[in-house]
Amino acid sequence: MKDVSANADAKRLAGEAAAELVKSGMVVGLGTGSTVAWTIKRLGEKIKEEGLDFWGIPTSFQAENLAIASGIKLTTLNSHPVLDLAIDGADQVDHNLYVIKGGGAAHTREKVVAGSARRFVIVADESKYVPKLTWPVPVEVLPFAFRLVERRLTELGGKPVLRLGKMKDGPVITDNGNFVMDADFGTIEDPKGLAAKISPIPGVVEHGIFDNLDELYLARAGGVEIIRRRRG
Ligand code: A5P
Repeated sequence: MKDVSANADAKRLAGEAAAELVKSGMVVGLGTGSTVAWTIKRLGEKIKEEGLDFWGIPTSFQAENLAIASGIKLTTLNSHPVLDLAIDGADQVDHNLYVIKGGGAAHTREKVVAGSARRFVIVADESKYVPKLTWPVPVEVLPFAFRLVERRLTELGGKPVLRLGKMKDGPVITDNGNFVMDADFGTIEDPKGLAAKISPIPGVVEHGIFDNLDELYLARAGGVEIIRRRRG
């Protein structure tokens, strides 16, 4: 998949920088999307050039295929329940390092993998780094519960829209066989509070607000800046 977006160079810079975190012997979560794809490809090069030897756990079908093509040895959470590191992309990151993910409908597995890791790193270009989150929150939903979740998200002040397929009539189906709703909450003043209200809705599989980011690898004009979590 060729990334032709305006930020393609910055994505590559951030993605490749984070590949340096991977050392032989590690178990590493491999995220989904066009930025972390550069991490995965660079890791493939390091396997060939430097003999880097580690296990990868992919967060999606897309990541799995790219990892296989890159020559990365894959394992599962069942075999390796604790990861040394997870590296992933994001749709937005705020200045407190709250994150919205799920633009590629992969956030449920991404959250499970990140939650299994001792260290969670996001790679992004500068356009993703914002004072406050405004990106519509992706919510993976059991198809059976779609109308209930829609109503509850609306009651919470959101404007939920069922994500529709491109080149496919009807809804996007996730790697887990579910639907995704994108709920626009405008500016999100309290990401943790909102997350706590969305999680218990019956039929919600997972939402795209992440609160466990340790480090952001952010590609800026002068190079890659590493921003670390300061929250308690
Ligand atoms: C997948 O569902 C998302 O969380 C991706 O990690 C995110 O959309 C990545 O964005 P880029 O393709 O811009 O890296």
